[in-house]
Amino acid sequence: MGVVGVVTWLTSASAVGVAVFTAYLYSSLPPGVTEPRKVFIIKGFVRTFYFLGWVHQKMGFGVRRLRPPRRASHPNLEVTDASFDGVRVRVYKPRAQKTATSTGSKMAGLMWFHGGGWVLGSIDECDGQVGRIANRSGAVVVSVEYRLAPEHKFPVPFEDCLTATQHFLQHAAEFGVDPTRIGVAGTSAGGNLAAAVALRLKKEDTLPPLKLQALVYPALQAFDFQTPSYTRGRRYFVLLHPNAMMTFWIRYLNNNLSLVDMFSNNGHTTALRKSRFASYVDQHFLGHSVPRSTPNEDVSVDLPDDLKDILNPYFSPLMAEDADLSGLPDTYVTVCGTDVLRDDGIMYAKRLEMAGVQVRLARYPSGFHGVMSFASKPFYLEVGKQMEQDLATYLRDHL
Ligand SMILES: *[C@@H]1O[C@H](CO)[C@@H](O)[C@H](O)[C@H]1NC(C)=O
Ligand SMILES: *[C@@H]1O[C@H](CO)[C@@H](O)[C@H](O)[C@H]1NC(C)=O
Repeated sequence: MGVVGVVTWLTSASAVGVAVFTAYLYSSLPPGVTEPRKVFIIKGFVRTFYFLGWVHQKMGFGVRRLRPPRRASHPNLEVTDASFDGVRVRVYKPRAQKTATSTGSKMAGLMWFHGGGWVLGSIDECDGQVGRIANRSGAVVVSVEYRLAPEHKFPVPFEDCLTATQHFLQHAAEFGVDPTRIGVAGTSAGGNLAAAVALRLKKEDTLPPLKLQALVYPALQAFDFQTPSYTRGRRYFVLLHPNAMMTFWIRYLNNNLSLVDMFSNNGHTTALRKSRFASYVDQHFLGHSVPRSTPNEDVSVDLPDDLKDILNPYFSPLMAEDADLSGLPDTYVTVCGTDVLRDDGIMYAKRLEMAGVQVRLARYPSGFHGVMSFASKPFYLEVGKQMEQDLATYLRDHL
């Protein structure tokens, strides 16, 4: 084959490749998404990155993190980097003195834990978003640079978030913040960390109680990977495939990636199927007309050492006992129609409500996991923008 032949062959092969890829992307776009062209572009990028990541992993490399974008400018905020008992944080303080939410001269405060599956993300990457939330809610927001898995597995990321939150509760006055008006919030893995910190601080009676928890498409359990939303995610997803979510859980737990297959058919919790833990992740809570399963008290509630944190509520908050849920602060939960984690959020909201907690469940049927990252120019989706505004409004009104 001459040079011309090779070039022609390569061109045709790439054209076919692109056509197949495009057809695949269109056919797997979830029904119900709005602005399909933009979602198509996002999904194209994500699939390409997944593919490169997969090749990278097959070649035996570990986690590679991309360099974060530069810091946004925040004309109406005073932004300072600090260390809270050894944990790096960035504090965003609205300059406008007369905010609707200031009590006397004191302001409300919010701890912010970024998403990224406990593995990715940083305070730089969520800088724009946190700035907008501080500005719109009028609260002093503390964004936490918790250490990441797999280098730092559970409980390190959780403990970093807890340490920073305790520090802020103790030193609120130094930031002009009323310590009785501090909440915790986060997206995805950050929602997991916020829920875990709220559960842990409930047991702390020397500090003022948290004012609220705001959980944006949170990851709350690693017990059942066959909830309806996980099952639907095998066919329809934009940013987060079920295997990617299980991989994130495993990196946070023990970094033994050979567990993915076992997780995907729930082999890791087969022995606990009649335990009380199974009744905490019950489809009954999704509003389906199935009665809540009754656990068999004789069933063992143990897992092997390398898996046992799956039952730890600071690792998976849905594993908390009903008694641990009651008395939690006011709660805001965001769920998206296209998200393997949708049912985690709905079940937690339902269980909290049954435990007597004030809960608002905000549903975005046309949204997908991660959509709140697309909330501002130059590239945004209406549903992402709306979600961020609704969150800021809730924070402004409830902190
Ligand atoms: C948010 O920023 C706008 C300008 O972009 C400013 O007018 C407003 O006062 C700020 N809000 C708060 C609560 O700081
Ligand atoms: C990883 O998990 C597999 C499956 O449970 C197990 O056989 C193997 O021993 C584990 N590897 C390590 C290093 O723990």
